[in-house]
Amino acid sequence: MKSSVKNPKVILVGAGPGDAELITVKGLKAIKNADIVLYDALVNKELLKHTQEGVECVYVGKRSNLHKYTQGKINQMLVDYALKYGTVVRLKGGDSYVFGRGAEEVDFIESQGVETEVIPGISSALSVPASQGIPLTKRSINESFWVITGTTSDGNVSKDINLGAQSSATLVVLMGLRNFEVIMEQVAVHRHKLTPFAIIQNGTLPNEKITMNTLNNYKGVVSSIDYSSPGIIVIGDVVGEHPSFLEEEIQRVLEIAF
Ligand SMILES: C[S@@+](CC[C@H](N)C(=O)[O-])C[C@H]1O[C@@H](n2cnc3c(N)ncnc32)[C@H](O)[C@@H]1O
Repeated sequence: MKSSVKNPKVILVGAGPGDAELITVKGLKAIKNADIVLYDALVNKELLKHTQEGVECVYVGKRSNLHKYTQGKINQMLVDYALKYGTVVRLKGGDSYVFGRGAEEVDFIESQGVETEVIPGISSALSVPASQGIPLTKRSINESFWVITGTTSDGNVSKDINLGAQSSATLVVLMGLRNFEVIMEQVAVHRHKLTPFAIIQNGTLPNEKITMNTLNNYKGVVSSIDYSSPGIIVIGDVVGEHPSFLEEEIQRVLEIAF
């Protein structure tokens, strides 16, 4: 396809975890200057209001196996729109390079001779626990954290869950809710049964919900999971730093005792 514009370009912008204010200044500026925007399911639609009048915003999200466009089709759209309109903003949830297929898109776009730029975003992996008051690291508690996918491209649980469970790292599991029981079963083999964990859904949004408990009780929280909302699982002693973890734990112990 021959370009009708001077400088075709695709800018990958990380939209942040949900709260529309958790985007970078640079990301917002790119949205304001975009000629067209392609956005994903977990992007806060408020951000689209910052586009200039008449700028089209195309939804290309893939949630709950409802794929309107395949990844191949999206890649091609990004190139075609850049050649047709000029600057395409590709808006993705969190950070484009954390389980966001951003690198695949950049590879394809550049292979077609179109310029790219990546504007980092605040990943849900870091910001959702932080906004709940859970530090991913705390001196004298842990020395690292792992961000792991709970569902690999073939639908299975990543082997890294088992490896991570053998370390003392905080485990942050994205896309893990549907495999929650298998994940927790694997972690429970290696970690102390009183290891705290949290499930945080719709993090940083008004309908945010957190469920906390300890590893020996993971089966008891399964019924509280809302599979239609995005959620992360955080496992490790740092979850005990949540402002109300101790209070809730005391409550649970009292309920069992009396
Ligand atoms: C395809 S991954 C994309 C991750 C994204 N690139 C990032 O950096 O946050 C989608 C997963 O991120 C997690 N996620 C994204 N936004 C979230 C939110 N607001 N609250 C909880 N989990 C979220 C969920 O585990 C969801 O299934």
